[in-house]
Amino acid sequence: MKTGIIGGTGFYNPGLLDDEQDIQVATPFGDVVLKSGHYHNRDVLFLARHGEQHSVPPHLVNYRANIWALREAGAGVVLATAAVGSLNEDMKPGEIVLVDQFLDFTKSRPLTFFEGGKDGVLHVDVTHPYCPRVIQHLEETAQDLKINVHGKGTYVCAEGPRYETSAEIRMFNMLGGDLVGMTSVPEVVLAREAGLCYATLALVTNYAAGISTKPLSHQEVVEMMGRSQAVLRNLIFAAIETLPETRSCTCQGAAAELGSLGEKKE
Ligand code: HPA
Repeated sequence: MKTGIIGGTGFYNPGLLDDEQDIQVATPFGDVVLKSGHYHNRDVLFLARHGEQHSVPPHLVNYRANIWALREAGAGVVLATAAVGSLNEDMKPGEIVLVDQFLDFTKSRPLTFFEGGKDGVLHVDVTHPYCPRVIQHLEETAQDLKINVHGKGTYVCAEGPRYETSAEIRMFNMLGGDLVGMTSVPEVVLAREAGLCYATLALVTNYAAGISTKPLSHQEVVEMMGRSQAVLRNLIFAAIETLPETRSCTCQGAAAELGSLGEKKE
């Protein structure tokens, strides 16, 4: 089993990989180029969500191709990074949050692999959308490395690419959101449909609009990611090295009623 990494804003190459090479994977949604390599005894795949030059905005990311390609190339587990704004005073810029829930405020994105007709219809269970087993492993790894992480947090997925109004942030806060970003949905949902274990390491880059006293900027987000990137990378790779190969969670069975995605498309 391989582990996939999806690098978000400010995380454009894996680093630390031996024998790194680009591989091209054909999917029904277009070709995807992944980086493939090894970290100690583990096989690792890497994908920059927004492209290596941050050229793809959040609402135009080809989420279905990305998840399909990772699965096709052999990933069983996907660890995603995400730059987020914080709505929660306890989750401060520079801190890492292991997201465990989402609120979906996206508007215009393909949401599923199962578009009806011969593809079938799947109402996938997302009671616990982020793999609890992988979250626990990340938390234990962080403890071993003496890295402070928040073990849970609710991610509000906004459509973007603009940042939010202060009224939207007040609303998200009232609804129980802790963090706001633009990419976790549909990525996490597609990963579940594909039977992958998926976890997000969210890096707080700023307080959200209206909580922060200054205007938000992409530059600020990228700079904060740059400062915290080494810690995030160490946590990810240490977790990959020690992740149990046996998947004792229920993520794999999500689409069992429809058979595998590969069979579906033949
Ligand atoms: N809002 C949305 N997405 C983000 C933010 C934010 O404040 N910070 C980093 N990504």
